[in-house]
Amino acid sequence: MERTYIMLKPDALKRGVAGEIISRIERKGYKIADAKMMQLGEAILKEHYAHIADKPFFPELVDYMTSGPVLAMIVEGPDVVQGMRILMGATKWEEAAPGTIRGDYANCTTENLIHGSDSVENAEIEIKRFFGK
Ligand code: PPS
Repeated sequence: MERTYIMLKPDALKRGVAGEIISRIERKGYKIADAKMMQLGEAILKEHYAHIADKPFFPELVDYMTSGPVLAMIVEGPDVVQGMRILMGATKWEEAAPGTIRGDYANCTTENLIHGSDSVENAEIEIKRFFGK
């Protein structure tokens, strides 16, 4: 069974929509195999977002991601990496289609509620990073 790393970002928890997002994941037929609340620090974020550390929005992203706890999850299902990316919608709020999580809940790109691994290979790296397994 394929698995992916999903992270509900601080705005999802602050706005109280974590339950609604989890319901969408479960309704799609995916299983929450593990979950934990985490307060992220700068070090793990610099590792997780190493590929975009030179982008102008990076400092704002770190401030936002450390502004409150995240809900880290391992989600399982057939082709779940691709399936979750479709369910999440595009990264940029203005490109996220209605019916997707970001399309329905996000109105800016930084606070876009959810992270999902972009490949099976990265999913395994991210699960190890956040869950150590
Ligand atoms: S890339 O190269 O910019 O397309 O990188 P990507 O892998 O899509 O990751 C970008 C992550 O940074 C978050 N973020 C933003 N992206 C683009 N523009 C702005 N302004 C921005 N602000 C924050 C974006 O949500 C991606 O984070 P994750 O957690 O992977 O969704």
